[in-house]
Amino acid sequence: MEDDVVLSAPLFAEMDPENSRALIESMNPVSFARGDVLFHEGDPGDRLFVIRSGKIKLGRRSSDGRENLLSIQGPGEMFGELSLFDPGPRTATATVVADAELVELAHVELVAWLEQHPTVAKHLLKALAHRLRRTNEALADLVFSDVPGRVAKALLDLATRFGEPTDEGVRVAHDLTQEELAQLVGASRETVNKALADFAARGWVRREGRAVVLLDADRLERRAR
Ligand code: CMP
Repeated sequence: MEDDVVLSAPLFAEMDPENSRALIESMNPVSFARGDVLFHEGDPGDRLFVIRSGKIKLGRRSSDGRENLLSIQGPGEMFGELSLFDPGPRTATATVVADAELVELAHVELVAWLEQHPTVAKHLLKALAHRLRRTNEALADLVFSDVPGRVAKALLDLATRFGEPTDEGVRVAHDLTQEELAQLVGASRETVNKALADFAARGWVRREGRAVVLLDADRLERRAR
């Protein structure tokens, strides 16, 4: 059952069960607790990870210590491949935000695998292209959208990956602190907090600690445009 999640990663797309099994067996299972750092921006990178359960934040730090989150990754998602395709140091720091189980694959093993199974490269390219699209969109939002618009968009995006339907609406257990949510949106904690309080006052969301229930996703979507 748990392997089903790993098998949904781009690495395994269209792979027959026998090959998938062989690849999974060459991967090493690892577990981490909230707050653990898997690697730091600037470290040499020699492996990639696929998430089985939990959540990982990928972030960068400015020279004056401010943090920006590039992405929150969850089950079935993969990270740590950029330092393989473009040899160089890690482009971000990976930190656990919800206790996580992952499998890791050494870059050298992936290279050997790609030589034998070149079609896998097509799916990895697709995943990279998808990431570039998302990054372009996030960049445009930083320039063109206001903070409440970006908060609405971030909540909707988190809902597509971590949301659970309930009678009231989608419940998103994002596991992020207010500070982390602000780093994801690229704004101060105060401004993000104000936007969330405003959404709550309008009845669009209800806040529950490190989760939020989207009571009116249509309104949020309109606000995100
Ligand atoms: P690597 O550079 O090896 O280590 C950090 C990882 O963060 C990187 O590989 C990617 O897997 C991931 N990453 C970097 N930039 C982004 C981004 N903009 N969106 C999502 N993931 C990213």
